[in-house]
Amino acid sequence: MDATLIRTINKLQDAFSTVGVHNPVDLPQIVVIGSQSSGKSSVLENIVGRDFLPRGSGIVTRRPLVLQLINRPSTNPVAETGDKGDKEEGKFNESEDSKEPKEPEEWGEFLHQPGVKYTDFNLIREEIVRDTEAKTGKNAGISPLPINLRIYSPHVLTLTLVDLPGLTKLPVGDQPKDIEKQIRDMIVKYITKPNSIILAVTAANVDLANSDGLRLARDVDPEGARTIGVLTKIDLMDSGTDVVDILAGRVIPLRLGYVPVVNRGQRDIDTKKSISRSLEGERAFFDNHVAYKSKAQYCGTPYLARKLNMILMYHIRNTLPEIKAKIQAALAKYEAELATLGNGMMEGAGQANIVLNIITEFCTEFRTIIDGNSTDLSSF
Ligand code: GDP
Ligand code: NA
Ligand code: MG
Repeated sequence: MDATLIRTINKLQDAFSTVGVHNPVDLPQIVVIGSQSSGKSSVLENIVGRDFLPRGSGIVTRRPLVLQLINRPSTNPVAETGDKGDKEEGKFNESEDSKEPKEPEEWGEFLHQPGVKYTDFNLIREEIVRDTEAKTGKNAGISPLPINLRIYSPHVLTLTLVDLPGLTKLPVGDQPKDIEKQIRDMIVKYITKPNSIILAVTAANVDLANSDGLRLARDVDPEGARTIGVLTKIDLMDSGTDVVDILAGRVIPLRLGYVPVVNRGQRDIDTKKSISRSLEGERAFFDNHVAYKSKAQYCGTPYLARKLNMILMYHIRNTLPEIKAKIQAALAKYEAELATLGNGMMEGAGQANIVLNIITEFCTEFRTIIDGNSTDLSSF
């Protein structure tokens, strides 16, 4: 039921993006913020469970990455008779002898390369790096122009996540003098939206009071109603120190609390340690640590993912009436425009025809979505 609810939201988002309008209904997104190299991209990768993001020391993330995870049930090849009608399928299986080409189970697709399915996640990382360099140069430049990536998989929770460049103070390379302000403005743009959920990432070996992420989050969400604290690099803390006081809300309390995680270190990245091994290591770390073992179920990436999904669901439920009203208003507006255009169209101007087609498609999709999900929508 909840998966259906979230799928509905994704359909709405899809319908809007077919006409080039992004997030007109202000759908909830999870936005990752924090200082440079605090581990933001690592946290995102661990949530997704796949290696595909550029990570490392210095400013690696230089454009916003809007990542839409779409849960797609696994297709059972035995049950399929091969008449799925997807003519495109064959091209991903050219090297295989099988007469029944298998559809990939998970793949990524960029908005700037529609129809190109990436099944090799290393190639996704390469494309992120390539497109980042194409738009910002190679020398540490940044740009607010987002990269839009979708990942379809049976193994993900349906979520939209945004990875952002980290807060930094001193310009390097081709960065402008006001780099700090530029990055801050970019981040603020994403987290100001009242229905964004903020993952404020702070490395545990940094004083929490100096956390750039938390400070920015507090500016836009003073009540802490939509900010989750994520503490990374727990494994790098001096022995004998821990984050128990922070977790217990005795340092900077956050209504939604903090989740401690252990991501892969630079050595792990260099030696290509897999995510599954990293998650096993994280589990073992918390299970065996004297300060955390009694509360290990509230530690680590899997707990963060569950917490996020739950928060997102409550959030969507609360905003559904508003979204519904906006969709109905948009629908009425476009139908009125459609009626007006209809008369002038008789002269057959090609340009107007294109507009008409787009609007027609828009209306049809919305009616389908609203009708098809009327039970979902009306139950809130
Ligand atoms: P970002 O700049 O905030 O996106 O941070 P990255 O995810 O790129 O990570 C920056 C560096 O910190 C990389 O070298 C990571 O391997 C390392 N790192 C991130 N999280 C952890 C962690 O929990 N433990 C350890 N040991 N290293 C981490
Ligand atoms: Na980094
Ligand atoms: Mg990053």
